[in-house]
Amino acid sequence: MNVLLIYLIVLRIVHFVGGTCWLGGAIIFHLFLEPTAKATAPDSRQFMQYFIVRRHYSMFMGISSLLTILSGALLLWHSSSGLDANWITSGPGMVLTFGSMLGIVALGVGFFIIAPTAQRLMGLAQAIQAAGGPPLPEQVSEIHHLETKMSKVGWTEFAMMLVSLLTMAVARYWWF
Ligand code: HEM
Repeated sequence: MNVLLIYLIVLRIVHFVGGTCWLGGAIIFHLFLEPTAKATAPDSRQFMQYFIVRRHYSMFMGISSLLTILSGALLLWHSSSGLDANWITSGPGMVLTFGSMLGIVALGVGFFIIAPTAQRLMGLAQAIQAAGGPPLPEQVSEIHHLETKMSKVGWTEFAMMLVSLLTMAVARYWWF
């Protein structure tokens, strides 16, 4: 069998499975878990901590986003014959390149803003648990600030991923 075909099939499988896990994880989190956690706070904090840290949700999202981007970058390199200018300026090329860039920015937002904020939140929750008593007022206000930031940035990242998916879905037919 042709080695190039096997290479492309493997890349597409990794890209689709990675993208499904990454975007699927974000959909479940933003549309279902986050509103439920907000509506049932503060009781939900322990549940969220277990979900994110002990069930390795952050790691799952990190690995699936990396696999999606790496396989996507290799597919882009192949489709564009090494980022050939003629391909990039064609309809499908522009749409796919735009979607790819959005996906890469979404990954950066996840790694450099969301992950450290989630880690800080988990650290605070552990410190409150270890102290045993009710949280100090400054801890409550920091938690509130971090949760608001996570939610706003998370929705922005989620929107970028959705647009990225939409561009991937239509790119090959974009011959206007
Ligand atoms: C939210 C993230 C992403 C999702 C859910 C996603 C999903 C998809 C889907 C469903 C396709 C199939 C389109 C088709 O066959 O017509 C596709 C194709 C493609 N994606 Fe993505 N993608 C994402 C991010 C990225 C990124 C960040 C890159 C580049 C760095 C990328 C590069 C590509 C390329 C080049 C193709 C075309 C592959 C081919 O024609 O063989 N994708 N993507």
